Amino acid sequence: RLSHLSSLEDALNLLKTSKNIIVLSGAGISTSCGIPDFRSSTGLYAQLQDEGKYELDDPQQMFDIHYFRERPEVFYSFAKQIYPSNFVPSPCHRWIKLLEDKGLLLRNYTQNIDTLESLAGVEKVLQCHGSFKTASCLRCKNRVPGQTIEPFIMSQHIPYCPRCQEEVAQKQQKKDQLKRSKGKGKARWDEDGEEEEEEDIWGGGEPGIMKPDITFFGQALDSEFDECLFKDREEVDLLVIIGTSLKVAPVSEVLTHIPHSVPQIYINLTPVHHVKPDICLLGDADSIVTDLSSRLGWTIPSPAAVPQ
Ligand code: OAD
Repeated sequence: RLSHLSSLEDALNLLKTSKNIIVLSGAGISTSCGIPDFRSSTGLYAQLQDEGKYELDDPQQMFDIHYFRERPEVFYSFAKQIYPSNFVPSPCHRWIKLLEDKGLLLRNYTQNIDTLESLAGVEKVLQCHGSFKTASCLRCKNRVPGQTIEPFIMSQHIPYCPRCQEEVAQKQQKKDQLKRSKGKGKARWDEDGEEEEEEDIWGGGEPGIMKPDITFFGQALDSEFDECLFKDREEVDLLVIIGTSLKVAPVSEVLTHIPHSVPQIYINLTPVHHVKPDICLLGDADSIVTDLSSRLGWTIPSPAAVPQ
């Protein structure tokens, strides 16, 4: 690895000379907007553990697809809390926009679902863990705009698939029709003289449950993630990682999927121990990117300049 790199000076030089920067971001770039991260002592998982009201064995179950299939009501009693609302992008989001404006951003791989990168005007952003923009039926895969399920999230009810519901209603109608026509003197009787149970030849059953297209544990990431990474690995010349504990694969594996010759700068409040980025700048991410920018003579767009 690039053992000669270690300091702020090296970080500044890399930012000055690189042309195709990948920014890999996580919840730490949105904490200053009032959105908790996941694994800090004040993070969402600690909150879920302390509240105890959801009776989870492990707070990560809240985002586990198997648990969701079993108990969707638990997620829907909570989803309102993480639904993107009136948050304003942080200096970090605006710094990513600055890189893009300078033509230096190859792509921002974000794990966040708060959409604050887009709100800051960043166009080259990949929401690796999906978003609330669309929702899909777990049964028939029907995809609908996220707004369709928004009222259910807000009222803490489970949304069912409109297409499945229609299908189930149609099947029921056919079943009723058949029963009525059979009823006209054609009822079947078993040996004891009891009317025979109608065989459910129409299938039917329950309509599927809608789930926002945010990636849960146990679900694969959208193929766009692999496609982008496959392309970007050829071009990237600097990786800047901001505000993530790098605990969740496959996003954490971006580090190993890009060539080892590409330098890495890690900007985070707390150190990371399971990987060794070339340069670690520890502290508040907003302050660090603001400091880097002022040393480089760059101006982070002001919140007012950010398209709303
Ligand atoms: P984590 O909560 O695991 O990590 C956030 C990191 O940001 C922590 O290491 C904090 O120390 C750091 N941090 C917090 N505030 C900061 C600040 N102001 N400045 C700098 N650093 C700060 O969140 P992620 O790594 O984003 O996935 O979590 C990854 C995935 O795990 C999430 O996308 C989510 C979660 O489970 C799913 O739900 C599928």
